[in-house]
Amino acid sequence: MTSRTISLRRLVGAMAVCAAAAGLGACRQDMHDAPRYDPFEASTVLPKGASAQPLVAGTIARGHLDDDEQLYTGKVNGQPATTFPFAITRADLDRGQERFNIYCSPCHGRTGEGNGMVVQRGYRQAASYHIDRLRQAPVGYFFDVITNGFGVMPDYRAQIPVDDRWRIIAYVRALQLSHHAATSDVPADELNRLMTGAAAPAAAPAGGEAHSGSGGHE
Ligand code: HEC
Repeated sequence: MTSRTISLRRLVGAMAVCAAAAGLGACRQDMHDAPRYDPFEASTVLPKGASAQPLVAGTIARGHLDDDEQLYTGKVNGQPATTFPFAITRADLDRGQERFNIYCSPCHGRTGEGNGMVVQRGYRQAASYHIDRLRQAPVGYFFDVITNGFGVMPDYRAQIPVDDRWRIIAYVRALQLSHHAATSDVPADELNRLMTGAAAPAAAPAGGEAHSGSGGHE
């Protein structure tokens, strides 16, 4: 009890001396040289002499399990997927159209013919989406191209979240369909409207640019 009181007193005394000295410049700890490691600073005590250690094998960051092969890689059993990993709704298609027009149309053009503005200014022209090879390509092939790039086309994995990649692909499929549709594919009332040039009903604004928010799969 007594010795404890004494040591506490000593400590307080030492602190007082130190505090007084601090005013004179001793006991100084510059803030720009804080006693912690900067990123990748060398270390004399940690393994490999590095303050930053490699991740333990198999480490998965929270929220990044990404164990749905089809959703995250566009493959099923290592082969390009032929189906979408989630059901595509009208809202997904609208979102896909919006994202396509932002990310793909500058090169591929709004209709996918490959004559976007960047191409008109000299960038290499991609094949039209409407050739047979690409009409028959599985959806997983498109996912792979968006995710990993293709030839001179850069990849868009950092810019476009996986769900939006699938929505864009759904819209590319719609574009492809639109170039090969028969009159019999058009519902009778729509056909009548097209033939007579009547105004579109209020529910479906021309151009389909209605904003659908940011979609719900994230
Ligand atoms: C900066 C211009 C550019 C943008 C933006 C772009 N692409 Fe491409 N894309 C190209 C070019 C150029 C090629 C052909 C590359 C080559 O032949 O080297 C290509 C190729 C492709 C192919 C493969 C075609 C084939 O012949 O097999 C697909 C599919 C594709 N793009 C889809 C997309 C989608 C979807 C987007 C939007 C997410 C997109 N691209 C954005 C330029 C672009």
